[in-house]
Amino acid sequence: MALITKKIKGTEDVLPKQSYRWQFIENIMREEARVYGFREIRTPVFEHTELFARGVGQTTDVVQKEMYTFDTKGGESVTLRPEGTAGAARAVLEHSLENEGLPIKASYFVSCYRYEKPQAGRLREFHQFGLEEYGTASPAADAELICAAQSIIDRLGLTQVRLELNSIGCPECRAKYNQALRDYFGGYRDRLCATCLTRLEKNPMRLLDCKSPQDREIAKDAPKITDYLCAECENHFAAVRQYLDAAGIAYTVNPTIVRGLDYYTKTVFEFVTDCIGAQGTVCGGGRYDGLMEELGGKHTPSLGFAMGLERLLMVMDAQGIAIPQPAPCALYIATMGDSAKVKAFELLRGVRECGLYAETDVAGRGLRAQMKYADKIGARYSLVLGDNELAENKARVKNMESGEQTELALDETFAERFSVLHLTADTAFEM
Ligand code: HAM
Repeated sequence: MALITKKIKGTEDVLPKQSYRWQFIENIMREEARVYGFREIRTPVFEHTELFARGVGQTTDVVQKEMYTFDTKGGESVTLRPEGTAGAARAVLEHSLENEGLPIKASYFVSCYRYEKPQAGRLREFHQFGLEEYGTASPAADAELICAAQSIIDRLGLTQVRLELNSIGCPECRAKYNQALRDYFGGYRDRLCATCLTRLEKNPMRLLDCKSPQDREIAKDAPKITDYLCAECENHFAAVRQYLDAAGIAYTVNPTIVRGLDYYTKTVFEFVTDCIGAQGTVCGGGRYDGLMEELGGKHTPSLGFAMGLERLLMVMDAQGIAIPQPAPCALYIATMGDSAKVKAFELLRGVRECGLYAETDVAGRGLRAQMKYADKIGARYSLVLGDNELAENKARVKNMESGEQTELALDETFAERFSVLHLTADTAFEM
């Protein structure tokens, strides 16, 4: 029994009393996606394993160690998405969205799955909001995307989140840079950790990302990618910075940002905070000009970012940012007797059609218990419906805070009159 009432390690439940916090940030993200011209894309939670192996990259930790991969009964190897970019790119190619005009701008909310060691801010199932843009090589697109991420962070009210920016160049500059890294780190073979020794051969840039203190120390004096950029990559990076400066977006150039996924080219960036511990990256992204070709499409320069919803909520908590609570119940109708129950249903329908949250008893409680429940859910108004009220076809609506009572007819005007009363009282409360 214990097994079925215990969630899997590294997963979290969002309970009804907490979900408004998620909806608050999701609404801001949806709204920002809309004003920046991104429309939502929804893709399956699992894809062919090959998609992530090719897209995210064979040498990454994600593909090598962290994927939830299994064979289906039909013998296919499928994987729960570890991130949203590869699936969205696959869908864009599969549906030939480029025929609808470029650039294509897509947003998404996805649950992601990575078999990592759980800790604060690091889960095995987590949620991302992302924006992806396909079919533009312009540095203006990089800057616009970063602006969108910054707008979301600002609208959430977060402070002390810094933007770190880098360019990791194109395959051409990267080849020279990788060689320089091999030469440099090669001199420290006897001191590097085992993982870094394999990285040295396969993907030397990942050495800059190693968390081992000794390797970090060695990495401090490693060659910097910014010294190896070709003219085109350097101009692109300068232009991105110029746009960001013009938009008043503060950033620092951090040449050690390499990102953990293989598809990136040129601009990469992260939004980082120190207020939630070691897992302080709340948003990561960049350009991936080669991915669409890698997946079998035409050359389509593209870019995007994703932010972790759990981490953003942690930052909001850590910074004491209040999230508006949902409006409490506007009207609770307590009933005595079966005819009153039926009348309550009729009245509530109208009130709810006016957009107000309203309730009546559906648990078979007595009057006292009903009023207690109305209190518990913080109902702003209550109304008791009994034989007298039904006979006179009117009832007194009581303001639960002030005790003030207002008589309303129980006819077709009820919902509208109640709605006006509630609205007026609401404004009075706010003043
Ligand atoms: P990523 O850096 O792997 O990039 O993840 C993006 C964000 O997801 C991170 O900054 C973090 O906030 C959150 N995140 C990642 N792993 C975990 C975890 N185990 N637990 C909780 N939160 C996590 C990507 O996934 C790229 N697809 C981003 C992108 C989109 N690049 C271009 N387009």
